[in-house]
Amino acid sequence: MSGIKTLGQFIIEKQADFSYAKGELSRLLRDIGIAAKIVNREVNKAGLVDILGDAGTMNIQGEGQKKLDIYANTQFISALTSGGECCIVATEEEDDFVRIESPVSKNAKYIVCIDPLDGSSNIDVNVAVGTIFSIFRRKSIEGTATLADVLQKGTEQVAAGYVIYGSSTMLVYTTGKGVNGFTLDPSIGEFCLSHPDMKIPQDGCIYSINEGNYVHFPEGVKKYIKYAQVHDAASNRPYTSRYIGSMVADIHRNLIKGGIYIYPTTASSPNGKLRLLYECNPMAFIVEQAGGRASDGFNRILEIEPNELHQRASIFIGSEKMVRMAEEMMAAEYVEKVVTVQSA
Ligand code: AHG
Ligand code: MN
Ligand code: MN
Repeated sequence: MSGIKTLGQFIIEKQADFSYAKGELSRLLRDIGIAAKIVNREVNKAGLVDILGDAGTMNIQGEGQKKLDIYANTQFISALTSGGECCIVATEEEDDFVRIESPVSKNAKYIVCIDPLDGSSNIDVNVAVGTIFSIFRRKSIEGTATLADVLQKGTEQVAAGYVIYGSSTMLVYTTGKGVNGFTLDPSIGEFCLSHPDMKIPQDGCIYSINEGNYVHFPEGVKKYIKYAQVHDAASNRPYTSRYIGSMVADIHRNLIKGGIYIYPTTASSPNGKLRLLYECNPMAFIVEQAGGRASDGFNRILEIEPNELHQRASIFIGSEKMVRMAEEMMAAEYVEKVVTVQSA
């Protein structure tokens, strides 16, 4: 075991960095790690047991739920309930937030927003999926926590992370002091530190976007795609296009190699598709902590004021230079529109 540092050891070692509630946040992260291992076990044997396919139900956003969506949701809620540090879970799979009311969570101070299974359309075809989580400290001091405790800006996150169930399983998280990645060693059943202090390259040559929606994209995004496809040896263009369809997997790859992931507004999703609280905010916190950038094309994701649980946002996230370039093109489109309206 010499030289190996497990997630549990690392969390304890780093808890001195937390400004408050040291043991509690550590325990919460540990609980999430435990649930991730249970979900990982099921994801890995998905082809062997009757857990593939549709559950025959819909979530509040009208999306069909997979059996594994529901399984993962249940596992995370259950781990957070037994752990006793979380008072509310807001999850993609439940219409309303879930209040945790168990004797052990009487004094719980944390809110967890979670996408229990990200990229679930990929489960049935053996492609990487993930889990995304965001942790806030409750704002209210007395009584039961409320929706207002959940609807906090991304800048208020005390921790965020994701798990990727891919060719190996990794847990990557931040508590606002850099980003660290742990790979699950199945032989000992532990997440082990494998990617200390992760940094995203400032520039890259991968762009990730569902280009099938091209006709419905804002002009600024269309311009950026064309820019990505132009030959220019000095800036390594044309870029490489890579799109998995699991946000976690696409952003994880770009975090390591350098790149940009865009899910803009489209005609059918005028506010974007991805959810602010449990997809955009946590990924933005991680990428910023790794030295990258995340916006909705105009404004920093982490500064968007949430007003509903399942609120959506467009997202431009990844290497600093690439995101800035895409933002410039979005801004130019906006100016063009204003000028056209004024001169009409
Ligand atoms: P989820 O499976 O949690 O609903 O998330 C799916 C999301 C995201 O992971 C992915 O990048 C995106 O939807 C893919 O959407 P398109 O199929 O529209 O490209
Ligand atoms: Mn998702
Ligand atoms: Mn999901």
